Amino acid sequence: MPMKKTFDANARALPHVQELHAYVPGEQPQGEGWVKLNTNENPYPPSPKVAEAVAGEVVELRRYPEPVSARLRAVIGERFGLTGKNVIIGNGSDNILDLITRCFVSQEGAGHTVPSYSLYPVVAGMSGQGMIDVPFTRSMELDVDAIVATNAPVFFLTSPNAPTGVAFPLSAIEAVLQRIDGILVVDEAYVDFGGETAAPLLNDYENLVVVRTFSKSYGLAGMRVGFGLASAGVISMLDRVRDAYNVDRIAQVAAQAAFEDVEYFDVQRAKVIATREATLKQLDALGWFTYPSAANLLFTEPKNAAGAAGAAVAADLFDYLKQSRVLVRYFAAHPLTCSFIRVSIGTDEEMEAFLTAVTSWLNNA
Ligand SMILES: Cc1ncc(COP(=O)(O)O)c(C=O)c1O
Repeated sequence: MPMKKTFDANARALPHVQELHAYVPGEQPQGEGWVKLNTNENPYPPSPKVAEAVAGEVVELRRYPEPVSARLRAVIGERFGLTGKNVIIGNGSDNILDLITRCFVSQEGAGHTVPSYSLYPVVAGMSGQGMIDVPFTRSMELDVDAIVATNAPVFFLTSPNAPTGVAFPLSAIEAVLQRIDGILVVDEAYVDFGGETAAPLLNDYENLVVVRTFSKSYGLAGMRVGFGLASAGVISMLDRVRDAYNVDRIAQVAAQAAFEDVEYFDVQRAKVIATREATLKQLDALGWFTYPSAANLLFTEPKNAAGAAGAAVAADLFDYLKQSRVLVRYFAAHPLTCSFIRVSIGTDEEMEAFLTAVTSWLNNA
């Protein structure tokens, strides 16, 4: 019998891969009966036109997809007053963030605000690069001078921000663009729920990349489609490092169907915004501080029955809600987030279930 051959995968991996901490996605609970308000998904299904488009495409699956997603690029470009040459489609917007990093992030590392979307350090790490932090204070106002001072080849700015929902004014974004030499990525995953898009600035700033996703406002998180808008020069670089068939056939037609059903999109979006505002009123009535949100989430600082807030209170509520099968998100690691919980906006019924569980937590203290 030959000896079993061993291989120390960790020791043999490239040094930067040995150091890498993989992204930790929000929990996907198994079993029935969960109120899932932890990953900012849309509570409503995608447009019925998506199902039609998908069904029509299934018969074509023996063939490779159109490699550059040309049709989807053209349709999206037109909506923004651009051309397909200014658009790239990704397997989720995470894919676009990775392409940008592969092309443009150098040894100096990428910049980001803290807190913001925790995938940025992961994509930078996958390219063997680090991050330059620009910390927020509790006001969550954008520190333009600090962003400029990073001199980062790529700066990731989430607007509206995650996990707070706070949107930054276009004037601040333009001030950054004017003063930096590198690329500013404005990650607009949540913009459809109330933010102001930076897309019109693309005409004047070739160092701007706007990143969008179909996962939130279009209800297609399970399909994995996102897109980037930028100058033709930037897009052509991103195309060089893109997998040849990075977006499958089904995803291309599904995204197009969702994008073109504007009427359905507007109705669902308005419902989510109305539910957010109604939920906010209830949190205000409890006397909890909540950041003004332009996203499909609320970042709120719970107070217990004794009126106390803090990390222990937020952690206790998170655990209590989870035991009640209401799943929200808790970010324990950062002083600006540890006394808050992040609640995705669900249906009215789901938010009712959340608020009922909150009331019972308050009564059980
Ligand atoms: C700020 C931000 N950007 C991007 C994404 C990921 O989007 P996608 O599903 O398109 O990869 C998320 C997902 O939660 C997000 O919060």
